[in-house]
This record gives sequence, structure tokens and C-alpha cells, in this order.
Amino acid sequence: MPGAVSEPIWDAEGERKRSSVRRMFAEIAPSYDRLNGIMSLSLHGRWRAEAVRLLELGPGDAALDLCCGTGDFMAPLWRAVGPKGLVVGVDFCLPMLQIAQRKSPDSSPALGDACMLPIGSGLFDAVCVGWGMRNVPDVDAAHREVARVLKPGGRFVSLDMARPGNRAVRAVSEWVFNTFTPKLGALFGSTEAYTYLPKSTQRFWSRERLAESMDAAGFESIGFKDMMLGNICMHWGTKR
Ligand SMILES: C[S@@+](CC[C@H](N)C(=O)[O-])C[C@H]1O[C@@H](n2cnc3c(N)ncnc32)[C@H](O)[C@@H]1O
Repeated sequence: MPGAVSEPIWDAEGERKRSSVRRMFAEIAPSYDRLNGIMSLSLHGRWRAEAVRLLELGPGDAALDLCCGTGDFMAPLWRAVGPKGLVVGVDFCLPMLQIAQRKSPDSSPALGDACMLPIGSGLFDAVCVGWGMRNVPDVDAAHREVARVLKPGGRFVSLDMARPGNRAVRAVSEWVFNTFTPKLGALFGSTEAYTYLPKSTQRFWSRERLAESMDAAGFESIGFKDMMLGNICMHWGTKR
């Protein structure tokens, strides 16, 4: 259509969000790990270890890494479940999943959508999601799918970006995030994806709304905890 302007990815919803997000992650897959390390100041390994501890996995357990991306949750999950356990990674973006498979050849990768998991019910002792929920087109549906594939009493942990509760910290964080993240992304040829990151964080659900969605999906003992001055938040719960 003459004069039509294509919608920015951070404004997309529903099916358009699903396809734009998948395309975006396919484009940044080769540089994802390097930028992740830089932007988290190499702290993401520590946050992942804390998230996996909350899953209370034991030897022989089955764990699902949903929206697994390049698979950085796989190693701590394997350490928790041991050689008799099972770690499955699900992502809807093949180039991300291929990197996960190279890094963690023992894990079972599966192409699938978080809102319609290609997995039977009640199979997993634990599910983790790292920086995935912000990207799915229907957060309520994704929480329901997580609850469905967990055994009763199974544990769920999600780490994601958040807006700091303190107004001064939020103002500084958003200025830094909005100014430098796209510039850093541009150095790696990914301006769009690293503009999407701060914009999608500002549009993402509040901590309380995420907890309410988990409650409605069938979780109990729900909690959340801020990290990195409230720029990251970890949610957890147990399937009722
Ligand atoms: C920011 S990356 C996080 C990757 C990884 N979990 C980590 O901790 O580094 C988000 C991942 O979620 C995946 N993703 C986004 N929406 C999805 C959906 N609806 N179903 C499955 N995967 C999805 C993307 O393909 C991408 O690999």
C-alpha cells in the first residue's frame, strides 16, 4: 500500500508478534551469546544458577528449558539432574536451537511454540524460562502450557527483564538502556533487536500481573525477586 509504514516489532501483537520475534531471533542467533555476556556484565550465569537452585531438581529428574534459545540453562540443569536425568529444550527459532544443540549435544532439542507445546501433560519435574515470557504473544497461554506439562508439585522459574520499582533507578536505567543498547546492537548489525529489548521491557507486564497470570494458570507458592537493581526479576511457583 503506498505510504504504508511497517509496524515496529515492539508494537506487534498476536500472530504478527510471533512471526516478527521468530525472524528477529533467527537474525541475531550468531551474535546472541556474545551480546548477552556483554549486556549482563557476565552475570547471567549466576542468575541462572540461582534460578536452577529454586527448581529443587534431584538426580534422575526431568527438566524443560522453555524458550531455550542458545541453551545457556542446559549445563546447570544437567548438573542438577545428573546422567540419569533428562533435559529438554524447546524453542520456535531453529537457528537458536541449532546453537543450543551444538553446545549441549546430550539435551533433546524440540522446535515448538511456548503457547502450544508439542509435549504431553504432566511429564516434567521442573520448567525454566529465561527471558522468554516477554516475547511470547500470549503470556497467559504460555503459563497454562507450563502448568500443563508439569507434574503436580512441579516447580517453575522464569527470569526476565523488568522495570525498576524505584523511580530514580528506573529513570537512569531506562536512559542507559534506551541510549546504549541499540548502539551496542548496531555494532553487531542488530539495531532492531536491541531496540526491541528496551521497548519490550517497558511494555512488559508488571511483576504483580505476571504473578496473577501464574495463579490463574494453576500455580501456588508464587513469589518474585528483583535482581540487578530491579532490571531483572525472577518469578517462581509450584504447580497445584
Ligand atoms: C531472549 S531469548 C532467551 C534465550 C534463552 N532462554 C536464554 O536464557 O538465553 C528468547 C528466546 O525465546 C524464543 N521464543 C520467543 N517466543 C517464543 C515462542 N512463542 N515459542 C517458543 N520460543 C519462543 C526465541 O526464539 C528466543 O530463542
